[in-house]
Amino acid sequence: MKIAVIGPGAMGCLFAARLARSGCDVTLVDHKQERAARLNASGILVEGADGTIETKLKVVTNVPNNCELAIVLVKAHSTIHLNLNSRTPVLSLQNGLGNVETLCSLIGSANLLAGVTSEAVTQLDEGKVKHVASGATRFGAWTTCPTGPAMKALTGAGFSVELTESPGQVIWEKAAVNAGINPVTALSGVKNGLLVEVPELRQLMRDLVVEAVKVAATEGYRFENSVVEVAEKTCTDTAENISSMLQDVRSGRTTEIDALSGEIVRRAQLSALPTPRTRVVWQLIKGIERR
Ligand code: PAF
Repeated sequence: MKIAVIGPGAMGCLFAARLARSGCDVTLVDHKQERAARLNASGILVEGADGTIETKLKVVTNVPNNCELAIVLVKAHSTIHLNLNSRTPVLSLQNGLGNVETLCSLIGSANLLAGVTSEAVTQLDEGKVKHVASGATRFGAWTTCPTGPAMKALTGAGFSVELTESPGQVIWEKAAVNAGINPVTALSGVKNGLLVEVPELRQLMRDLVVEAVKVAATEGYRFENSVVEVAEKTCTDTAENISSMLQDVRSGRTTEIDALSGEIVRRAQLSALPTPRTRVVWQLIKGIERR
C-alpha cells in the first residue's frame, strides 16, 4: 500500500519507519526542503524496546498524488498549510482540538479518518527517535470514509489499533489529557512521571483536566471513565517520556498550546464557562514561546 506520512517529527518517524518495515511503500513528507534532503540521505532511526529500526525512505516536500492513504502527524498549527488531495483518504492522528475542522475545510469530510495515538516517542535528533512506550491508536470515519485499509496497514505494522464510532470523543479525551499533562511538564521542566509524584503538580494537572472535561460537556461529549484517572495513568505509563510540549519548549519550537489550552479557553467562552487555570497556563506558555 502506498502511504504518505506527513510530518517528520517524533511520531511521524515512528509511523513511517514501522509502516515501511511491514512492507508498505512509505513516503515521508516534510515541508522543509533542506531537512527533507538531509533525511533522504540519513534515513530514519527508531530506537525501541522491541529493537531498532533503521530505514531509508523517500522524503519529499509535497504529498504524492498517487498515495492510497495520507497519515497526518504535523503539529496543529501546521494543519492549515497542508496541500492534500481530496480523493486520497486522510487519517489525522494529531494532538489537539480543531485539526479535523481545518482538514474538513481543506478536503471535505468524505475521505477523512480521525483519531489519536497514545504511542510515546521522544525525538533524539533530526530523524532519530526513541519509542518510549506503546499505546493504543484509536480512529474512525469522520463521516463516511472506509476504515479497512488504514486499519490493515496499521495493524500489519504492529500498532495496537481500535476503531471508534465517535472520533470526536477520543480526540476530546486525548486533548483533555494533554491539556493537563503538557503545559505542566513544559512549565516545570519535568518528565511525565513526576506529575503524579509531586502533589502540587498532580493537583494542577487534575484541575486542568477537570476544566477541559467541563468544556467537552458543553459540546455533548461525556466520558464513561474518569479522564483525570486516564491522565494519571498516562503519566505513569509514560513516566520516562518528555512530553511533546516540553520537547518543543526545549528546542525553541512553537508548541501546540493554542490547539490545547487556547482552544479550550476559546470554546469555554462560547458557554461563558470559567477556565481560570487553563487560561493561566496558556498565557505562560505563550510567553515561553516568545523567549
Ligand atoms: O504530547 C505528548 O507528549 C503525549 O501525548 C503524552 C500523552 C503527554 C505523553 O508524553
